[in-house]
Amino acid sequence: MAKINYITHDNQTHTIDVQNGLTVMEGAVQNDIPGIDADCGGSMACATCHVYVEEKWLDKIPKAEEAEVDMIDMAFEPKNNSRLSCQLIMSDELDGLIVTTPAKQS
Ligand code: FES
Repeated sequence: MAKINYITHDNQTHTIDVQNGLTVMEGAVQNDIPGIDADCGGSMACATCHVYVEEKWLDKIPKAEEAEVDMIDMAFEPKNNSRLSCQLIMSDELDGLIVTTPAKQS
């Protein structure tokens, strides 16, 4: 189990315990976190699971593969800390992870 802090664009924080091995997207969907629709179910084909990862966590998560980077380019307002939450797999090392959802996905 690891905690994820999901912050919506209007600054509401939702702190959820997510089982190791699940993705940040699955944790959001299972707990009705607003702002992560995950239309494609995690196959990297929609970008509706786009999140901004708090800077201090960026070096703790694996770098995005090329296909993820391409999909992020199509997301709403991508930034340097943009990731697809369906590609972020939870583990104890990520306990306390902070992600923010973009305004367009709310
Ligand atoms: S759920 Fe569609 S790209 Fe992540």
